[in-house]
Amino acid sequence: MCGIVAAVADRNVVPVLLEGLRKLEYRGYDSAGLAVLNGGLQRLRAVGRVAELAAQADAVRAAGTTGIAHTRWATHGVPSERNAHPHVSGGLAVVHNGIIENHEALRERLKADGYAFTSDTDTEVVAHLVEKKLKSVPDLFDAVRAALAELEGAYALAVMREDDPSRVVVAREGSPLLLGLADDGCYAASDASALLQVTRRMVYLENGDCAEIRRDGQRIARIDGTPVERPVIESQLSADAVELGTYDHYMQKEIFEQPDALANTLEMVGAARSLQPGLFGAAAADALQGARQVLILACGTSWHAGLVARYWLEAIAGIPCAVEIASEYRYRDSVPDPETLVVTISQSGETADTLAALQHARSLGMTRTLAICNVPESSLVRETALRFITRAGPEIGVASTKAFTTQLAALYLLTLVLARLRGRLDAAAEARELKALRHVPAAVQKVLDLEPAIKDWARLFGGKQHALFLGRGRHYPIALEGALKLKEISYIHAEAYPAGELKHGPLALVDKDMPVIAVAPNDALLEKLKSNLQEVRARGGELFVFADADSEIADSEGVHVLRLPEHYGALSALLHVVPLQLLSYHVALVKGTDVDKPRNLAKSVTVE
Ligand code: F6R
Repeated sequence: MCGIVAAVADRNVVPVLLEGLRKLEYRGYDSAGLAVLNGGLQRLRAVGRVAELAAQADAVRAAGTTGIAHTRWATHGVPSERNAHPHVSGGLAVVHNGIIENHEALRERLKADGYAFTSDTDTEVVAHLVEKKLKSVPDLFDAVRAALAELEGAYALAVMREDDPSRVVVAREGSPLLLGLADDGCYAASDASALLQVTRRMVYLENGDCAEIRRDGQRIARIDGTPVERPVIESQLSADAVELGTYDHYMQKEIFEQPDALANTLEMVGAARSLQPGLFGAAAADALQGARQVLILACGTSWHAGLVARYWLEAIAGIPCAVEIASEYRYRDSVPDPETLVVTISQSGETADTLAALQHARSLGMTRTLAICNVPESSLVRETALRFITRAGPEIGVASTKAFTTQLAALYLLTLVLARLRGRLDAAAEARELKALRHVPAAVQKVLDLEPAIKDWARLFGGKQHALFLGRGRHYPIALEGALKLKEISYIHAEAYPAGELKHGPLALVDKDMPVIAVAPNDALLEKLKSNLQEVRARGGELFVFADADSEIADSEGVHVLRLPEHYGALSALLHVVPLQLLSYHVALVKGTDVDKPRNLAKSVTVE
């Protein structure tokens, strides 16, 4: 989490740093800070949003041609001005994204050396450590490398020094960082969106890289000093894609972008009647063909996508599938099978737990690895043998929406490829499945038309403290996703259950104040679900049912029913999640919460 920006240019870089931070605010937004060199070191820090920092910078007319900046998601130390970055030591300033795991030991050593700490952060040790190294290694680039050799953990760092205003030194280990090459200078940031304002020419650093950026260029070396070259890439990211346009919130924009995001993701399949394994990478045919089972590793919403996929993979492709929360899997003793296809799912491709779970799986001898990811240049994509890049476009709202549905589309394609390879699907059936999949963007568009009715429902949730979501089969993960969306952006406590579990405990919670939201497509489990809903109604619970056009569930006292236009068989999970996204969005509006930046959260979870 946290976002960093750095600049050395032929202009006042403060506006660039601030604009970069605004673009990175999705990574953390509890405090922000910047430092510039202008004869001396000028540092500004503010609790809250980047707007607070910008107002401060305006008030003091902050200016300088070399600078670093940071937007924070607190890990070590509460959000406060003293814990906000940059952290300083003498005339040196540092911003950091990640966690220095051995910060306590380093802190004790540095204290013994006479360094005084003014914050509770792990980052401050980096500032003092580099300052200490400078005493014996006077060159900043070399001193930073010497300090890095003593750090354990994850970092993207930018360091500058008032006696040396011509450069900023940056480094990456485990947290994303790229350089931007412009005509008027050189920049660095946590992601490309922050630098599109100045350039499209980007250089992605690898883990273990350290770079010096100057007005007239850059050089990169490994921590041991070995020089390395990294390719310059022309970013394809469109500046419009990260603008809000006519929408009120990014989450709303991203919900409504789903038909396009799905169509773009499916574009690579074109009008094909049959899929090639090569869709997942050059080496996919062998890797997929020989896989005996699938292990899906992911977190949060991406984990929910994996849970849906398990139903598809087992039912359609006939391949055993386990789905694990990445942060649990990595610390669990499991029984590895080297012939497992390990599928990691991540919107950002930078989620620390998912990356670590992948490394753990590999260390257990599982080398058939696939990433389903929305960011082509991300760490996850670079670390797996196979990949499928969803084309959702940048997702800025903290609550994931279009990334989820495009992940589902990718997982369905994977299911079809495995089903074909395993002889579970004939050519005609595959062509039918692909035709159905290509129709999903249009079907999602029709679901979006339900928004006015969902908005009316949302008003009824404004005063509620709790909500229960029910689903069965592959719609149980959709219920989980609906509950997650509601809790993260409206702060209403929500839980999801497979509807059959209700009577085994949670039914005790149901009363008139507990709205119960049911995902009720017209599938084989509908009749069972209807009985579960009767159990709720009999206890006075108010039901909100998302049914299909042909589900026979009638509106009645305490039973509200909304019908999705089409019944969509195995793919209905892709449709049924959409009204739940809209419901949580509108409930959040009713409650007046910060939809795109819910409290305590951040978009890209690059810490454990
Ligand atoms: C919820 C949400 C999170 C993410 C999770 C994993 O709306 O966005 O639960 O899904 O943090 O993130 P990625 O997919 O980037 O690995």
